[in-house]
Amino acid sequence: MTMDATSQRFLMCRPTYFAVDYAINPWMDPTAPVDADLAVRQWEQLRQIYRDLGHTVEEITPVPGLPDMVFAANGGTVIDGKAMAVQFRDPQRADEAPAYRAWFEAAGFEMYDPKHVNEGEGDILLVGDYLLAGTGFRTAHASHAQLQEVFGYPVITMQLVDPRFYHLDTALTVLDERTVAYLPEAFSPGSRAVLRRLFPDAVHATMADAEVLGLNAVSDGRHVVLPAQATTLAAALRDRGYETIGVDLSELRKAGGGPKCCTLRLRQGKASK
Ligand code: ARG
Repeated sequence: MTMDATSQRFLMCRPTYFAVDYAINPWMDPTAPVDADLAVRQWEQLRQIYRDLGHTVEEITPVPGLPDMVFAANGGTVIDGKAMAVQFRDPQRADEAPAYRAWFEAAGFEMYDPKHVNEGEGDILLVGDYLLAGTGFRTAHASHAQLQEVFGYPVITMQLVDPRFYHLDTALTVLDERTVAYLPEAFSPGSRAVLRRLFPDAVHATMADAEVLGLNAVSDGRHVVLPAQATTLAAALRDRGYETIGVDLSELRKAGGGPKCCTLRLRQGKASK
């Protein structure tokens, strides 16, 4: 099988002000040490991997006092030139929303504002012509209807059940237009049944892979950038013909984030879908 990589446009935010000084998910321990300089170097490695793959990386200016702003995936959902801004569940992250919104507006995207809690691509994943939308911890179920109305893709609700996998992108990776990898245990029985129905050939990740945030991966259809520690998942993906690229984001993981969290896909229009 030959697989074609599509060149992508990403938005990233340098972790200049990164820290773990509050806890809004089970990964975060404000008493544990974090090496902030190492976090920046690891993030730069991720950016370099994307550049080496031929992707375009745009950057938003980090804002002091917003330590989680590095997780650009939570800044919005951008499909077909439309950008839906976000509304965070937690007040600690609330001020990130207008910063990202201003960036999208300046970049010329058609803007939409959320009516309910909506944490962007953390919970909203485009697979081919469907939007998978997570709920249970962050993004409100009520926001799913708005997403369908704004983007015009059928939205399929995914019920998350394990607080460690609080965003959909910690439990499921989109590999290409037809295939995903996921951790079955992170989903309710009904959502598992839906996933089996939609993606009978999906890669099932192990708990050990998920516990190093292995599913928080970025695929261009051929290359999959994932946490270096997710070795079993990487081997399973290589068996399917993907090229895997491991990256160590140990410091950002202390905030509950991996490569995908640091990366927001900017889909300009149909051509770059
Ligand atoms: N500390 C951040 C939070 O809990 C991490 C966000 C990770 N982002 C993601 N797309 N999963 O909100």
